[in-house]
Amino acid sequence: MPRIALATYDPGPEPGKDSDLPVLVEALRAAGAQAVAVPWDDPGVDWSGFDLVVIRSTWDYSWRAAEFAAWVRGCDAATRLLNPADVVRWNADKRYLGELAAAGVPVVPTRYLAPGDPADLPDGHEYVVKPTSGAGARFAARYTPEERESALRHLARMHDEGHTAMVQPYVTGIDVGGERALLYVGGRFLHASRKRAVLSPGTAYDAEKVAHPGLEQWTAPPAELAVAEQALAAVPGAPELLYARVDLVDGDDGRPRVMELELVEPNLFLFLHPGSVDRVAEAVLASA
Ligand SMILES: Nc1ncnc2c1ncn2[C@@H]1O[C@H](COP(=O)(O)OP(=O)(O)OP(=O)(O)O)[C@@H](O)[C@H]1O
Ligand SMILES: [Mg+2]
Repeated sequence: MPRIALATYDPGPEPGKDSDLPVLVEALRAAGAQAVAVPWDDPGVDWSGFDLVVIRSTWDYSWRAAEFAAWVRGCDAATRLLNPADVVRWNADKRYLGELAAAGVPVVPTRYLAPGDPADLPDGHEYVVKPTSGAGARFAARYTPEERESALRHLARMHDEGHTAMVQPYVTGIDVGGERALLYVGGRFLHASRKRAVLSPGTAYDAEKVAHPGLEQWTAPPAELAVAEQALAAVPGAPELLYARVDLVDGDDGRPRVMELELVEPNLFLFLHPGSVDRVAEAVLASA
């Protein structure tokens, strides 16, 4: 009986928000594993007591980056961690988009503004400012050229906290075709979902946002599968990934572009794809 921990965030007294977690624990147990959900930051846990630790919903990691990096190091030293620690480190910083672009993968055009860099913001079109380490659209906002003062305040806030900012054109295709999330498990395409645009005009960067508006099942056409697979092939070292989610939007040329490659803690949206639950459990067991 393999002992498997699914690492999640600590919801405190609230019910946990990861709806994938209970169904996955149940499917793993039904398949003969000893599976348990464990908060990643619980200091009382001996991770070496597990054969496999699967990072699932450590959703507070992006604002606890140093602590999380230390946990990844420790857990990796203690037992088998998936996705692999190198992948997690690489993917936790969205500067990887620049590396994907350099490898020829179509991505949303991105500039990085580190603390101290001149605040070079677009003046001919609407744009998005967001952090290189983010989740749930936290600290992301869109601006028109006329809203430069607000964008500068947003940038200053990120820089004050030591974060590098990303500046991208606002991809208008998202208002038409939404954003598609293609999920790969055990190296194979599993299912796809689509959500509507998250960033409404005029919403403050520090406002709470609905992370997955209008989420629904999606049938990914060949062009999307091709870009997703190109992106996955460009991950350094072509590592074995237990899970990967590739988020795509249509660029101005109508072709899919990578908005985000999520290899740390992707929401699997299993409630939309109940047929996928056993396939995920099988892939986890095969890695244990
Ligand atoms: N360049 C852009 N053009 C249009 N919309 C964008 C752009 N960048 C971000 N968004 C919107 O903001 C949302 C959050 O951005 P992104 O996925 O890059 O960050 P995140 O914080 O990792 O989000 P999540 O963890 O929810 O996926 C996207 O799902 C999308 O709706
Ligand atoms: Mg995203």
